[in-house]
Amino acid sequence: MKIRNVVRTQDFEPKWITELFKMVPRVAEALESAAGKDRLRKRLENKIMLTAFFQQSTRTRNSFDLAAKRLGMDVVNNDDMEGISSVGKGESLEDTIRVLAEYRPDVIVLRHFETGSAAAAMKISSQLRVPLINAGDGKGQHPTQGLIDLYTIHKNIGLLQNLKVVLGGDLRYGRTCRSLVYLLTKFGVPEFIFVAPERLSVSPDIKDHLNTCNIQWRETDSLQKALEWGAEFNVWYWTRVQTENIKDKKEQALIARVEHKYWLDTEHLKKMSPQAILMHPLPRIHEISTECDKDPRAKYFEQSKHGLPVRMALLLNMLS
Ligand code: NCD
Repeated sequence: MKIRNVVRTQDFEPKWITELFKMVPRVAEALESAAGKDRLRKRLENKIMLTAFFQQSTRTRNSFDLAAKRLGMDVVNNDDMEGISSVGKGESLEDTIRVLAEYRPDVIVLRHFETGSAAAAMKISSQLRVPLINAGDGKGQHPTQGLIDLYTIHKNIGLLQNLKVVLGGDLRYGRTCRSLVYLLTKFGVPEFIFVAPERLSVSPDIKDHLNTCNIQWRETDSLQKALEWGAEFNVWYWTRVQTENIKDKKEQALIARVEHKYWLDTEHLKKMSPQAILMHPLPRIHEISTECDKDPRAKYFEQSKHGLPVRMALLLNMLS
């Protein structure tokens, strides 16, 4: 089973995800030895990945770059599309993608600040038969992060059907939560708790989706309440306020006043189940005390580490 474009997680088949997740540990293991690395390097030789980043990135950009290079691909990186390309002269995204796709890279990886930009770009790139991967579109989706998050849950907890998940922080502008919720619902997660200030509460499309799937959810703006409700929950997924996606200065100031309320420290961790895992797509800014890092339930660095083999498995699936 192969996938052509990666734009939103609703489009992924559970069977395809399960197959991809079987490949990830094999890739990770191969990365551990010189012979394994040699084998990997031959897999996508002569292919070229072109990246176009219109927003900052550390993990996504570097892990895509390394993933491609570990598979023997060449990479053309555009790290600062706003600053150095003709976009700075006012060129539209559509024209930029048309031109880049005409050069026939084997895949384009796009991160853009506009919600819906990846779908618009994919319409153009697919006419030219160039696959496209959405590496984050505004407050829309971040599907490869969603796969990494789901893989981390799958690796640590296993039984996806019985999961109960708390999502907290910026659920309105954060794109990773949307990608993850759509993925989790494919595996029958029975219950969600959303904890966020009212201004950053979970978007109506997610609530509608959960209602349509008959999945229970509750929301609160109180961390204490969430800790009470979620004492037995398996996954705590925390997120940063996406200040760069909140354009209005007044709104930014109002949010800055409440964001510290969702700070997690070791006292909060004591109230979570001993079997729970604590996740965060990173970067963390005001959300989780570094004291929590020593707790074996803190999985956010493990989560970002999975970014490399998950993205390698994805490139292999799409391009080999
Ligand atoms: C996330 C993003 O860009 O949406 N970062 C990432 O890719 N791991 C989350 C964030 O920036 O807060």
